Amino acid sequence: MSIDALPMLSEQSPGIAVSRRSPLSVLPALVRDPLQALPPEVYREPLVYSRVANRQRVFLLKPAFIQETLVRNADALSKGEDVRRALGPALGQGLLTADGAHWRWQRQSVVPAFRHEKLVGLLPAMISAAERTRDRWLAAGSGAPIRIAHEMMRTTFDIIVETMMSGPGGIDVVRVERGITDYLKPTGWIFALSILNAPDWVPYPGRGRARAAMRYLRSAITGMISERRRSGEARDDLVALLLAAADHETGRMMTDEEIADNLLTFITAGHETTALGLAWTLLLLAHHPEHEARVLSEIDAVTAGGPVRSEHISELIYTRQVFSEAMRLYPPAPIITRTATRAFPLDRFMVPERAVIVVPIHAVHHHAAIWEQPERFDPERFAPEQARARHRYAYMPFGAGPRICIGSAFAQMEAIAILAVLLKAVRLLPKSSTMPAPVMKVTLRPTADAEMLVETRS
Ligand code: HEM
Repeated sequence: MSIDALPMLSEQSPGIAVSRRSPLSVLPALVRDPLQALPPEVYREPLVYSRVANRQRVFLLKPAFIQETLVRNADALSKGEDVRRALGPALGQGLLTADGAHWRWQRQSVVPAFRHEKLVGLLPAMISAAERTRDRWLAAGSGAPIRIAHEMMRTTFDIIVETMMSGPGGIDVVRVERGITDYLKPTGWIFALSILNAPDWVPYPGRGRARAAMRYLRSAITGMISERRRSGEARDDLVALLLAAADHETGRMMTDEEIADNLLTFITAGHETTALGLAWTLLLLAHHPEHEARVLSEIDAVTAGGPVRSEHISELIYTRQVFSEAMRLYPPAPIITRTATRAFPLDRFMVPERAVIVVPIHAVHHHAAIWEQPERFDPERFAPEQARARHRYAYMPFGAGPRICIGSAFAQMEAIAILAVLLKAVRLLPKSSTMPAPVMKVTLRPTADAEMLVETRS
């Protein structure tokens, strides 16, 4: 059938799962936790259609549909209203939030910072940051309680500012972490107001704190950029790439505001996600000692009793499988959304212009038709043979298509380095007998920052 003859997707479309919940039931759930507001059908159907407050939403679960949309029809999609409202006030028009030519230029400008050779050169800085965390824990003594997500955020923040900005340059790490948490806390309200088409000025609880947090982050970064321009010091980092970036069509350079948008994007997108992936990994290992023992014996065999070094990271195959499986169960970015800027074909239908496309990565990763016993923690799913047998878009913690995470290789190297350094020196014990429940605040966090006990390994 030619594209022109395809019918528009709607609640009348044959063979389509339709979610018919009222705004009254969806909106409060959205405010509490957008994951709880997903139609339950997303965990078993290939595609779900819903219309809430006149907004059409198409939830994609089947990997082939995700590929057809995010990869083949990427030019029919924009980041859309939810992303603009939730992240725009903080990240402006940086790489994560921009669309079209402005996005393309920024992506091309920063690609050199993420080439493989460049990333390998960053490994010593990643290992050193992990060693500082380890030493802090060892100094606190055996039995000391730690808040695991907070500890991982300190470590990955240390790494992102060291590797991308050549150091914190006076930025207050604790204030940044609190600022990001304050900023993300009320985002459920923003999604709910966006569905209702409420204007941007409508107040919501937590907005004042979120705005104050954003002002601190931006002023700290702007100060650092002015200082770099003033000193003219040559450095080989992301700031230097952004200061030198010129649009190859117009020759235009980035303004300080555009550079700040991107640095804020890299600082936030580049440390919180990895930290959460690590926190969930360490919690899972603590609850599954048999897998922890296998990770430890791999680290011991690869490092042969010496300290963790750069060349060890690519050899820690099982450790990497564990991290992948943790991100399957707890994807740090659990939902991504787009808006259709024009109608486009999908399967037997046309997706209408202005429909919101939702890819609930969390539901894809727990889907009954894709995974056997989806709730079971089983790192063997990522052994090469099993991974090869799956559809490429059955697992997508870093997204898919041209907007795929630019930092995915960075994040994986960093995570393995941190796990190797920490697990070699300490054993982390869970304080509770059950895994903490996840809650989505743009990223997927443990409900209350889970406490763990540090025990020195003899
Ligand atoms: C485990 C860690 C990470 C996870 C799970 C993750 C996840 C994601 C996902 C799902 C997207 C796509 C969003 C969408 O399609 O709407 C994304 C985009 C992005 N990520 Fe990551 N990320 C991680 C680490 C990082 C790191 C370490 C950096 C930087 C050093 C980074 C920088 C970015 C940027 C700049 C984008 C926007 C790319 C674009 O639109 O061109 N991320 N990330």
